Amino acid sequence: MNTETNSILSSRSLGQLKLKNRIIKAGCFEGMSQNGGVTPDLIEHHRKMAAGGTAMTTVAYCSVSHDGRAYDHEMWMRKELIPDLKKLTSKVHEEGAYASIQLGHCGYFASKKVIGKRPLGASPKFNLFRMSFAKAMNAADILTKIDDFVNATSMAIEAGFDAVEIHAGHGYLLSQFLSPYTNKRKDEFGGSLENRLRFLVEIIKGIRKKVGADFPILVKMNLYDGIKGGLETNEAIDIAKVLETVGVSGLIPSSGFTSRTPFLMLRGRLPIFEMVANQTSWIMKLSLALFGKLMVQEYTYTKLFHLEDAKKINDTVNIPVIYIGGIKTPEDVAQALDSGFDFVQIGRALIHDNNFVNNLTNKSNNLNICDTCNRCVAAMDGGGVYCVSNITGNYLD
Ligand SMILES: Cc1cc2nc3c(=O)[nH]c(=O)nc-3n(C[C@H](O)[C@H](O)[C@H](O)COP(=O)(O)O)c2cc1C
Repeated sequence: MNTETNSILSSRSLGQLKLKNRIIKAGCFEGMSQNGGVTPDLIEHHRKMAAGGTAMTTVAYCSVSHDGRAYDHEMWMRKELIPDLKKLTSKVHEEGAYASIQLGHCGYFASKKVIGKRPLGASPKFNLFRMSFAKAMNAADILTKIDDFVNATSMAIEAGFDAVEIHAGHGYLLSQFLSPYTNKRKDEFGGSLENRLRFLVEIIKGIRKKVGADFPILVKMNLYDGIKGGLETNEAIDIAKVLETVGVSGLIPSSGFTSRTPFLMLRGRLPIFEMVANQTSWIMKLSLALFGKLMVQEYTYTKLFHLEDAKKINDTVNIPVIYIGGIKTPEDVAQALDSGFDFVQIGRALIHDNNFVNNLTNKSNNLNICDTCNRCVAAMDGGGVYCVSNITGNYLD
């Protein structure tokens, strides 16, 4: 084992947790839930991530309420889910890893068909693909959603999760409040950055009050939205400062706005053919087939593509900053840690090779690396995220 590998495999604290190494599986929507519930495939997916040596695995997007969902196969947190989530966290713990869960709300891009009512948003907004017009949240809606985030965290703890990751990036509801592109409010939740941050700040304060000082609350946030009039890095730095002061345990700076620039957070090939094949909505199928390349922009993959901007956040705060974006090899992990980050989150390279961490001591196994074909992204809407060239065996087998 060389020194690079040594530092990757050394333990470090995150809130009250002592992670056995620096690698966390990023929240990557699994597409394995059925009717918003836990399935054996979902449990097995995370057991494998844990068995593969990651210190913590993140269950991806779980809505804090029924009305925060864009698809039927997205989970939402509720009492009845706790026993099945407990099975998942137990399996992860048995393999020697921690489990985190990403809690969020889709806001204006929730599906009217799935949630049975008009979607909520920071401001009124038309959604062409869903043919729905979001209702601007009023004060009562905001209070309800704050409670939903707090209660969802309590239920996650009851289900055995060791950390929560609040999704405030990628154009989801909290990101819709932070972004000047979607937040046109004239009240105390819109306008200045302080106002746009208020909703998120109240959620974090509410959660912190409920869970005590040491429970790890992570926040995934945007460095930039990648759209004209959207959030930029100078404001992201200020957001990070505020989140530190209100008790966030760690930050995960990412980028992109799901409804406008979904591949900015990913980079690499645009899997249009696979996306068309896996769409269930005929409007989306047709639109993607005809205008895919115009509707969805492709961004060239470069290694560690968030490094320079994420460093600006890391240089500003004293809480752990978890690097995410474009890690494919052990050398990439070492470079992120050498740049001062405490941990890394990895998405596609772990979907490609569940044993990435275990293989660190056996470099020959790492020659077959993820090629960012992004077919796993298309696969999440086709029955479960998997890698077409998975070197450790596709779990659909
Ligand atoms: C199949 C797939 C599903 C994803 N789903 C989510 C998600 O539910 N929530 C989220 O915050 N990010 C999601 N992402 C983005 C990843 O968490 C991560 O930010 C991105 O893949 C960049 O990291 P990587 O280069 O290590 O893959 C997803 C990525 C992939 C590949």
